[in-house]
Amino acid sequence: MQQTGQQHAIVPREKLDFGLDGNIPKYWFAGDPFKTRFFDALSTLFPEGEKFFIVCVRDFSAGITDPQLAQEVRDFTRQEGQHGMVHTRFNTRLEEQGVKVQRLMQRQKDIMFGVFRRLFSRRYTLALTAASEHMTAVMAHSFFERREILQDTDPRIRAMYAWHAIEEIEHKAVAFDVMQKVAKVGYFTRILAMLHVSWGMPLHTFIIMAHMFRVDGFSFGQRAGIWLRGLWWLYKPGGLYAPVLGHYFAYYRPGYHPWKAGQMRTYSSWTDTFERTGDPIAAGNALHAAGI
Ligand SMILES: [Fe+2]
Ligand SMILES: [Fe+2]
Repeated sequence: MQQTGQQHAIVPREKLDFGLDGNIPKYWFAGDPFKTRFFDALSTLFPEGEKFFIVCVRDFSAGITDPQLAQEVRDFTRQEGQHGMVHTRFNTRLEEQGVKVQRLMQRQKDIMFGVFRRLFSRRYTLALTAASEHMTAVMAHSFFERREILQDTDPRIRAMYAWHAIEEIEHKAVAFDVMQKVAKVGYFTRILAMLHVSWGMPLHTFIIMAHMFRVDGFSFGQRAGIWLRGLWWLYKPGGLYAPVLGHYFAYYRPGYHPWKAGQMRTYSSWTDTFERTGDPIAAGNALHAAGI
């Protein structure tokens, strides 16, 4: 991973077709319940999560005087709006499998809009947004930097995550810039919010996965095995997260900026293929193939 980055343009892309209505296996990730449900749980978090991000950035729209940043906020909003729509479409598959998607989303909404936005300051909820955006950028790197990670996955769902990852990289600095330049959030609040997101995001993902495994009908013993193997896959040395820990911790540096740390080496393999073919699945395959 390079440690200095070239800023990418934020390009909202609409009406992409990932073929999600097709015949996709339930356990689309290597036939593995943990790996599949980990990504499925993230998908249930996106629609409400991204609405929250948009609202928390917009709280400060009126104070933005830099026209470039104002345009970036508009493009960020359009990208996040599209992500929410596509994940909502994907989530209907989960609903059909018995997952209580509406209930999960309502609980998340109650926490974010009913508790966080009622209890915390606008500056703190913006800091939560910037921290979450850092986490999604780190995940984008983790999922696509190495080919082996998403090797045995359905290419349609992988393409949905590839597109989402690319756009998360493109707009990764928007909430951060509004937080620093407009809301003037200090270092302490930024780090507090990052600590909050660092336990809150995995905790909620795991609670949703636990619900999914019960819906899937696994016995207690089976679930114990699934969790043990799955947590090892996530956190083992060389696993999903260990190689991107440096990128994660970069956020704690006082002079940190998203374009200073973590550049997606394979970014242009997606954009080049998408520009040439207009096909998001081909672009997803290209991004995956370009991994090391
Ligand atoms: Fe997003
Ligand atoms: Fe985002």
